[in-house]
Amino acid sequence: MISNKLKNSYLTHQKVKEKPELSTDSMSLPIEEIRKVLVPFLLNNKVLIIYGETGSGKSTQIPQILLRSDNYSNSYICCTQPRRIAAVSLALRVSNELKSEIGCLVGFSIRFEDNVSSNTRIKYCTDGILLKELSLNPVLIEYSHIIIDEAHERTLNTDILLGLSKSIMKKNKKITFIITSATIDIKKFSWFLNRCPIFTIPGKKFRVSILFIKKLNFEYLKMAIQAIIYIHKKEKLGDILVFLTGKSDIEFIENYFEKNIHKVNNQSKLRLKVLKIFSNLPVSKQSLIFKKHAINSRRCILSTNITETSLTIPSIRYVIDSGYVKSKFYDPKANSENLLIVPISKSSADQRAGRSGRVSDGKCFRLYTEYVYNNEMRKSNIPEIKRSNLLNTILILKTLGYVNVMSFDFIDKPSIFAIGKALEELFMLKALNKKGELTNSGRLMSLFPIDPKLSRVLLVSITFFVPIEIAIIIGIISNSSNLFHEKNLVSLKNETKYFNSLYGDHVTYLNIYKEWLKNNSSREWCVQNALNYLYLANSKKICKQLLFLIKKLDIKIICKGSNYTNICKSFTKGFSKNIARKAKNEYYKIIYEKTLYKLHPKSSLLGTKPNWIVFETIINISGEYLYNVSKTKPEWSEYLNRN
Ligand code: CDP
Ligand code: MG
Repeated sequence: MISNKLKNSYLTHQKVKEKPELSTDSMSLPIEEIRKVLVPFLLNNKVLIIYGETGSGKSTQIPQILLRSDNYSNSYICCTQPRRIAAVSLALRVSNELKSEIGCLVGFSIRFEDNVSSNTRIKYCTDGILLKELSLNPVLIEYSHIIIDEAHERTLNTDILLGLSKSIMKKNKKITFIITSATIDIKKFSWFLNRCPIFTIPGKKFRVSILFIKKLNFEYLKMAIQAIIYIHKKEKLGDILVFLTGKSDIEFIENYFEKNIHKVNNQSKLRLKVLKIFSNLPVSKQSLIFKKHAINSRRCILSTNITETSLTIPSIRYVIDSGYVKSKFYDPKANSENLLIVPISKSSADQRAGRSGRVSDGKCFRLYTEYVYNNEMRKSNIPEIKRSNLLNTILILKTLGYVNVMSFDFIDKPSIFAIGKALEELFMLKALNKKGELTNSGRLMSLFPIDPKLSRVLLVSITFFVPIEIAIIIGIISNSSNLFHEKNLVSLKNETKYFNSLYGDHVTYLNIYKEWLKNNSSREWCVQNALNYLYLANSKKICKQLLFLIKKLDIKIICKGSNYTNICKSFTKGFSKNIARKAKNEYYKIIYEKTLYKLHPKSSLLGTKPNWIVFETIINISGEYLYNVSKTKPEWSEYLNRN
C-alpha cells in the first residue's frame, strides 16, 4: 500500500498522464510470481543479494515493491546503474508504470543531468553519482534503500560502493543494501558482505540452440551481415539482436543494409527493420528499440554489450554474437587508458546467448569456433578495478577519510602499481600533500563531476581570471561524441579553418562556441559549419553546471577577458606531465616517456607546430595521436619543474 502522505503528494504533484504503451506487461514478469515470498525477504534483511536472469524485473520492480511497502516515507530508494543510458531508460519506464511524470515520483541523476525533485522517492542514478554524493553525505542519511544493481558488471564504482556499504551500514542502522546480479557468480558478493542471504528469482528460460562457425574468420562484421541475411531469409518470425563492439561496427552494418535493404527484403516475406543501441545514442533514438513494430516485419537490433544485461529488449529470438567487446585497459607504466577490442569471456557469451531464449525457444549464432569458446575464452570478465586508472577513485577514498587507501576493504584489490601512480599524480595536481593527506584544493577538486585533472584546470583558471572560458572548454571536451560531423569532412576542412587558433585546440573550441553564441546558438549555423548542434547544446549545460558549482563553493570569480595565454597555462597546470616537444618530421616527443607521436589529424596546431605542446590524451584511430593539444612553455609545467 502507498502511504497516505505519499498518496496525497502523488495526487497533488503528479500530472497523471494517460498510460503510455508498455512493451511488456509487468504483471507477467518472473518477479511477480514470487512477489509474496520476496517482499518479506526484502523487508527483513539489512543486506541481501538478489539473483535473477536479465529481464526478470529486478531493476524496474524492486524499487516499486519497496515503495509500496515503505514506512520511511520521505527517504529515497536509490537504484544505481553502471550506465547512464540504463539509469535514464529505467527511470522513464518506471515513471510510466507509476503513471507519474519523470522527475516527480521517479527521477534520475546522471553526470551533468539531474531531474530529481522534492517529491522524488525512487531515484535511478549511475554508481559514479552515488559515489560522488558520499563525499558530501558519507552515511547516506536521506536514503532508506540502496539497490546496487547490475553488480555482476563489476564496474570500478560499483566495487567501491560495495566496499563502502559495510562501513555505511555500521554508522547508519536504518539503511538497507540490496545487491542484484544477473549472473550466477554471486557467492563472492555474499562472502564479501559477511555471508549475507541470497534470493533467487526463478527464471522463465526457453531452450537456446547454439551454433558455432566451423573455421575461425576474423572478419566478424562481414560474417554478421551474412548471418543477418541468413536468418531473415530462412528462419521463423522473431527479432535479431547482434552484439558488436561499438558505434563504428554498428554503422558499418547499418550502412550496408541502408544500401541493400531492397535486395535483402526481396528474399523474404518479412520486412527487415535495422535499429541500433549504444551508450551515446540520443535518448529519443534509444527508445525506438522498445517500441512495438508492424506484424510483417523483423527487427534487427545492432548493439554494443549494453543489451547483455543492462537493457532487455522484448521479442528477441535470434542472437548473433561477434565474440568481441570494447574494453578499457589502463597501462600504469605509460599512464594511459586504451579502449581495446578484446574477446569476451565465457560468462558473457552465455549471457548473450540467453537473450534469445526469453520469449520462446531461441538460436544463438556465434561468430567464433567451439574450440575458441572451450579453450581460449576466459571464464569471467576482469573487474574494472584491475584495469583502470584509479585517479578519481583514490581521490574519493581520500575525501572519505581513508588515509591509507590500501586498508580499504576492496572486493578485489587493484594493483599496488596503479594505486601508486594515482597517488603520485594526485600529489602533482596538489590534491595531496607530501604526507599523502588531502589538501584543501584536493577537497574542492573532488566536488566537480569531472576528471581530477580537469578539476585542477578549472580551479587554477580562477587565479588566471579565465574560469568562464575554461568552463566552456571543459563543457566541450567532456562530451563523448563528436563535435564535428564526420560525414562532412570536406566542408569541415574549409569552414573550421576560420575558427582555428594558433594557441591550440582548446582556444579553437572556445572560438567555435563563442561564434555559435553570436549566432543565437542556432541549429542552422551548426549545419552550415558541419558542427554537431546537440554537442554544443550539451556543452552549454555542462558549462553552466560547472559555474554553478563554483558559485556554490563561494569562490569569487574575476574575469578579465579571454586571455589565451592564461587558458594555455591553466591546461598545463592540470596536464603538467603531458608535455611534448617538437621532434623531427611530423613528430612530437613526450617528455616523460620519450616516445614519438603525431598530432591528431584534426588539430588546429597542424599548420604551425609550436615547439612545446600540452596534450590531453593519446587516442588510437588507426595509429596513435596526441589529442586536444595547446601551445605551452616548459616553465609552466609543475612536472618538469619539480625538485
Ligand atoms: O533488471 P532485470 O533485467 O531483471 O529486468 P527489468 O529491467 O526490470 O525489466 C523488466 C521488463 O521491463 C523487461 O521485459 C524489459 O523488456 C522491460 N523494460 C522496458 O520495456 N523498458 C525499459 N526501459 C526497461 C525494462
Ligand atoms: Mg536490470
